[in-house]
Amino acid sequence: MARAGEVTPLRRLAGWLAESPLLRRGKNLYEANCKHWNMQLSRSEKLQAGLHLILRDYAAGLFPPRFEDREATYRAEIECSESLPGVTLETAALADMQKPFWVGPRLRTYLRDFCLIHESLERCGILPPARVLEMGCGFGWTSEFLAAIGYEVTGTSIAASSIEWARKRIASLEAKGLQRVLRFEVAPMESVAEDVGPKGYYDAVLVYEALHHAFSWREAIQSAAECLKPGGWLLLCNEPNLVHTFSSYRVARLSNTHEIGLSRRELTAHMRQCGMTQFINMGARLHFWIKPHWLCGRKAGG
Ligand SMILES: C[S@@+](CC[C@H](N)C(=O)[O-])C[C@H]1O[C@@H](n2cnc3c(N)ncnc32)[C@H](O)[C@@H]1O
Repeated sequence: MARAGEVTPLRRLAGWLAESPLLRRGKNLYEANCKHWNMQLSRSEKLQAGLHLILRDYAAGLFPPRFEDREATYRAEIECSESLPGVTLETAALADMQKPFWVGPRLRTYLRDFCLIHESLERCGILPPARVLEMGCGFGWTSEFLAAIGYEVTGTSIAASSIEWARKRIASLEAKGLQRVLRFEVAPMESVAEDVGPKGYYDAVLVYEALHHAFSWREAIQSAAECLKPGGWLLLCNEPNLVHTFSSYRVARLSNTHEIGLSRRELTAHMRQCGMTQFINMGARLHFWIKPHWLCGRKAGG
């Protein structure tokens, strides 16, 4: 593979294409998007802007992205909501607190996803009041929903500000008259077993649309495995497939976050290395590196 600063014929061609009239519209759209995170783009506009950006960054040796600095990656994830172009921190936080109740088709998508998380837990035999740890819970909606239906839930995420918001959800359960166990803690998923633990306590650890943000998804899976009881289940829910590194590169650059696709083969192999012996695939069987992963792995023993 070519080094970062090295000029190769392929890189020269990519740079030329990125700046060519063919992708001028993509370039203009991306520049406008850099000022307005919430800019509405059609599919074809996203494609044009993304293609311009990928070719431009490939020419400069920046694509595919490499993440070598843990602290910088953590900081970028933590500061993400503060740095979205044209969006205040308050607006971003309120939008996240309203999730999944967003106007438009994403409402149905999130509710459907929650039903699949619920179904996955049931398929794994994890029923209330089982103990569930969520990694990368963000503003905590999934943890709140799971607690509402009777699980004992610990939600964890890397950003102290989102955990502070998430904790407001505990009062929402109390307001409904529900006596539930729901807590939220700040912790990178790579060290959740040390930072939150306790080790061997949880019946299930789940991560929904967040593992691919980890600095090291391998360390995150290892740490999750340590949190599980023997016989407990790790649920990887709606984690993106390999195409995501390309399709979300524009979003990754704008939000300065870690948007990478994951390989099902590598995920499964690593889960085995971390002591998982039984697998249930709740997602598409034929994925062609496109369909997201819904994968449950059972820790040996129990
Ligand atoms: C796409 S959001 C999804 C959040 C949540 N699961 C939801 O559905 O709203 C990804 C989340 O992962 C968190 N995150 C990123 N890197 C992390 C890490 N290394 N450890 C724990 N959380 C992390 C981010 O702060 C963000 O809240």
